[in-house]
Amino acid sequence: MSDDGLYYDPYDVDIDRDPYPTYRRLRDEAPLYYNERYDFWGLSRFADVDAALRDVKRLSSAKGDILEVVKADPVMPSGVFIHEDPPQHTVHRALVSRAFTPRRMRMVEEKVRAFCVACLEPFTGSDGFDFVTDLGDELPMRAIGMLVGIPDVEQPKVRDHAQRNLRNEPGRPLPINKEQYFDGGMYAEYVAWREKNPSDDLITELLGVEFEDVDGTVRRLTRDEIVTFLTVIAGAGVETTGRLFGWMGKVLAEHPDQRRELTADRSLISNAIEELLRYEPPGPHVARYVAEDVEYHGTKVPAGSAMLLMVASANHDEQRFDDPDRYDIHRNIGTYVTFGHGAHYCLGAALARMEGRVALDEVLNRFPDWEIDMAGARRSPTTTVRGWDSMPAIIDQR
Ligand code: HEM
Repeated sequence: MSDDGLYYDPYDVDIDRDPYPTYRRLRDEAPLYYNERYDFWGLSRFADVDAALRDVKRLSSAKGDILEVVKADPVMPSGVFIHEDPPQHTVHRALVSRAFTPRRMRMVEEKVRAFCVACLEPFTGSDGFDFVTDLGDELPMRAIGMLVGIPDVEQPKVRDHAQRNLRNEPGRPLPINKEQYFDGGMYAEYVAWREKNPSDDLITELLGVEFEDVDGTVRRLTRDEIVTFLTVIAGAGVETTGRLFGWMGKVLAEHPDQRRELTADRSLISNAIEELLRYEPPGPHVARYVAEDVEYHGTKVPAGSAMLLMVASANHDEQRFDDPDRYDIHRNIGTYVTFGHGAHYCLGAALARMEGRVALDEVLNRFPDWEIDMAGARRSPTTTVRGWDSMPAIIDQR
């Protein structure tokens, strides 16, 4: 802690409840911050975070993008492209991008809508539903399963694995168990199964693709590489998107006038989801390994350090956004960093946005007025993503 009491600890439960006042102090008083206890540096201003995300040479992803993983320094299996730098990252990313074609996204959108309707319909006439347990818990896994080709019945296993990897004890860093973290055993079965049962999905496509690797050889992917891609996609897309729904229920309950506007004019939904992602980003930070000495605000950060890029703080930087702590569905948002920026920009951003839009539209179709029973709301026990495991809505059915 500095003399004036400024202390930022990503694991501190009290700070995490409402980190925005601490972020503001960091931006004002210590835009480059050093946390001695956990030995990491942190950047909190939008301009710094945004530039750092794009500085793949000095701020490397090679040791991961979660603080505990960067510090634990596990050796990544080949193909964990979220943990790679260009040029290898570029090759692997291009292969996985094949899942997210506009045609597939349209197909998934239809199914996402049908799923939301099926989740919400049983609550018609009731006095409440839960934005997370009744809607957001399963939807992200379903959507990824459709794109990638993971059978419905197997999806709970994948979701539980992705969830387990990101959950820590309150107040403590995430324990990194390398064997569990990269355990792709269950995906190997789906890949083998898809080989015999080809379909219109990413696994089938990756099984057939020939590509030019960084060394110029043209080859097919190994089964192990495909398995690793799947762990990355599920790891990156399930817990993050799941947290969006709790914030949706809470933030729109706190802004009933804007919610009424949305009910009346659905063309505003897209920007409302965008603003929700800026205002309460499900991933509050990403980490990097400092590959070469860098200097910020007159202080040198030596190569070998861990750097935390405080995405949630950057999204609330008053130098970048007017009145940043206000939720405003009419805001002209422009660039924000919830999905990162540059080489590693989130591959699933369009999917997450679409899930948010469709789910909100279907909620408003049935339950335009709700309040939140905050006594029953439950925080997610994780600091890598930030949000809720339960967000119970009380519906006004008049
Ligand atoms: C990358 C956030 C949903 C797949 C990222 C990054 C962020 C992020 C910040 C950049 C990480 C970095 O720079 O190190 C989020 C948030 C989501 C979300 C907040 C939900 C609201 C999804 C979904 C999927 C997904 C639904 C999959 C379908 C990925 C992948 C990467 C990534 C594969 C790695 C891209 C690369 O390294 O090139 N995400 N994500 N994400 N995300 Fe997401």
